[in-house]
Amino acid sequence: MRHKRIIVTHYGGPDALEVLEEERPKPKRGEVQVRVLAAGISLPDVMMREGIHPETPRVPFTPGWDLVGIVERLGDGVSGMEPGDTVAALPISGAYAEFVCLPQLELVSVPPDLDAAEAVSLILNYVTAYQMLHRSAKVRSGQRVLVHGASGGVGSALLQLGRLAGVEMYGTCSPRGASTVSDLGAVPIDYQHQDFLEEIHRLTGEGVDVVFDGLGGTNIWRSRTALRRGGKVVAYGLTASLSGGRLASGHSSGRHRFREIAIFGLYIAAGWLFPGRKRVVPYSIQWLKRLKPELFRKDLLAVFDLLKQRKIKPLIAQRFPLVEARRAHELLGNGGVIGKFVLVPNASLSF
Ligand SMILES: NC(=O)c1ccc[n+]([C@@H]2O[C@H](COP(=O)([O-])OP(=O)(O)OC[C@H]3O[C@@H](n4cnc5c(N)ncnc54)[C@H](OP(=O)(O)O)[C@@H]3O)[C@@H](O)[C@H]2O)c1
Repeated sequence: MRHKRIIVTHYGGPDALEVLEEERPKPKRGEVQVRVLAAGISLPDVMMREGIHPETPRVPFTPGWDLVGIVERLGDGVSGMEPGDTVAALPISGAYAEFVCLPQLELVSVPPDLDAAEAVSLILNYVTAYQMLHRSAKVRSGQRVLVHGASGGVGSALLQLGRLAGVEMYGTCSPRGASTVSDLGAVPIDYQHQDFLEEIHRLTGEGVDVVFDGLGGTNIWRSRTALRRGGKVVAYGLTASLSGGRLASGHSSGRHRFREIAIFGLYIAAGWLFPGRKRVVPYSIQWLKRLKPELFRKDLLAVFDLLKQRKIKPLIAQRFPLVEARRAHELLGNGGVIGKFVLVPNASLSF
């Protein structure tokens, strides 16, 4: 039996994405074959396509950090799971496919009756947001936080979870995202026409307790300046390395896994050395999952539970068939996307 998956043929723009048709993968011992219902499309996928994300595999590879699907076949030695079960996983790469085989240990059960696209939006984005709020920043009700990219995938998740935590929120976004950001309970700051630092100091006086900075580069230092004494920047992304969905520096076409994060490390170190009791702390979902897999599982189940209770509502910007992955990357690169793009490789089954 055959299936389709997307491969990145070379490091570069969306044209690097191609559809490959091949035999379905067979589960090895301890593995489960999963029919993918929904795979998240995210900026980390774009960065891996460009070759600059620290997790970038060698080409050719199949992108796709997260997926929700149905258990189709069990490999030898798998127990406690049945064909037909709905499962979620964060394989980091490989999810842009109709079928994947994953170790059973990687799979988390999805509660019944959740929409697959909504559920997949929680795996990378909401677990990242939840862990940054509650494990890195340990926010308390009443604290002030600034979220960069507040209408994007992780940003909108931070606002929904931040509102539940009772924090006062400010969010940078382009003019298109402003109404979404205020609907989600934050004061929008138009990063294209306003200086966010001036705005934060005008609105809050002494600054904020926490900045969630997914932009990276020199922006980390500006985020630190937005803090009040004793505050913390949680630095977690490299969005500023991209421009129009391509490498902002123009130095593409290779696998440079540590080039873009070198500057990131410098700012984190400097954050500790300069006065003001202001800290810059890094966050990485993949490293926390590798070091403490039980926390990833626990936090994913916590956000699934919030979705089940309708306390959160992921913003799905658009659903795409698998073969339109390249178009989805083009649109994501153009910017102005509110919420999350999702691939639905077996759409006829799930929707
Ligand atoms: N460390 C981790 O574990 C982890 C996990 C997940 C994601 N990430 C990182 O998090 C970042 C965001 O990912 P995502 O999937 O949420 O991306 P996304 O959905 O594309 O959102 C990015 C947002 O940033 C906004 N933006 C762009 N330039 C900006 C600027 N100068 N100031 C303020 N906002 C700006 C964009 O707005 P417009 O398009 O409207 O301009 C967009 O809303 C990426 O760097 C990604 O690699 C890290």
